[in-house]
Amino acid sequence: MTNHWDAIRRHWQLLGPPLCPPPEAVTTYERELGLQSLDVVLLGVTPELAGLGRTMLAVDESPTMISGIWPGDTATRKAVAGNWLDMPVAGASMDAVIGDGCLSALGLSVARRALFAEIARVLGPHGRAGLRLYASPETPDDPQAVRTLALSGGVATFHALKWLVAMTATGGAPDHAIPVQAILERFDELFPDRDELCARTGWDLPVIGTIDVYRNSPAIYSFAPVATLVHEAEAFFGDVRIVATGTYGLAERCPLLVLRSPRQR
Ligand SMILES: C[S@@+](CC[C@H](N)C(=O)[O-])C[C@H]1O[C@@H](n2cnc3c(N)ncnc32)[C@H](O)[C@@H]1O
Repeated sequence: MTNHWDAIRRHWQLLGPPLCPPPEAVTTYERELGLQSLDVVLLGVTPELAGLGRTMLAVDESPTMISGIWPGDTATRKAVAGNWLDMPVAGASMDAVIGDGCLSALGLSVARRALFAEIARVLGPHGRAGLRLYASPETPDDPQAVRTLALSGGVATFHALKWLVAMTATGGAPDHAIPVQAILERFDELFPDRDELCARTGWDLPVIGTIDVYRNSPAIYSFAPVATLVHEAEAFFGDVRIVATGTYGLAERCPLLVLRSPRQR
């Protein structure tokens, strides 16, 4: 799947909230998890989160994402290539794990559960984790209502629209998955005239064009509802909470899943 993320890296500067965490979301990680004096694992190389923690080990499967967007190793932080489901980290050795949109990068419920199990494994007994979600509503939006909302200027950013479109077309339980190619197809059906979308919203065509990276990509994302993700996490953590991450566009669907009391297996 690293080719998918390599392609996304090439237009990284055109991305924005809610795909990247805005400052108020970064503050939420810090406030809810008290990261300042902790040894932290970052899932991925999200640059906005690279300054958190006393020390940070970032784990990402894509060497080009590491070389392309990680702000660089220092005396207290470094990035390594690795799989989140089998982290190069000893059991019960870390204080905290954080990640941004990671659960949506996994297309299967069984993979999300494997990630929860792996996070619980690497955390010490007082450890905690925070994962910002991209969560579908319990009742799916009507696709035509999403189109009308976007064309009337009611969607904050193109990237928020991309997620709204995806959430109209995700499959059912247990995975709530969608191949990214299907996000592009649904978008093209709903918005066949990109010039019109551009004119009605003020979004630049190159920003709208970032969705074309999904063409021919084998990647599968998931957008499970909050209740599903909480239920999956509760098998691995004794204390599972949901915290709002701010007021940016689509923030209501991007809360922080806060996990404490890892169950040791
Ligand atoms: C943190 S996620 C989401 C980033 C961003 N918030 C978004 O929504 O586009 C993106 C990163 O996850 C990495 N990634 C995806 N699945 C992975 C896995 N199983 N193990 C390690 N890294 C993975 C990709 O290489 C990519 O750099």
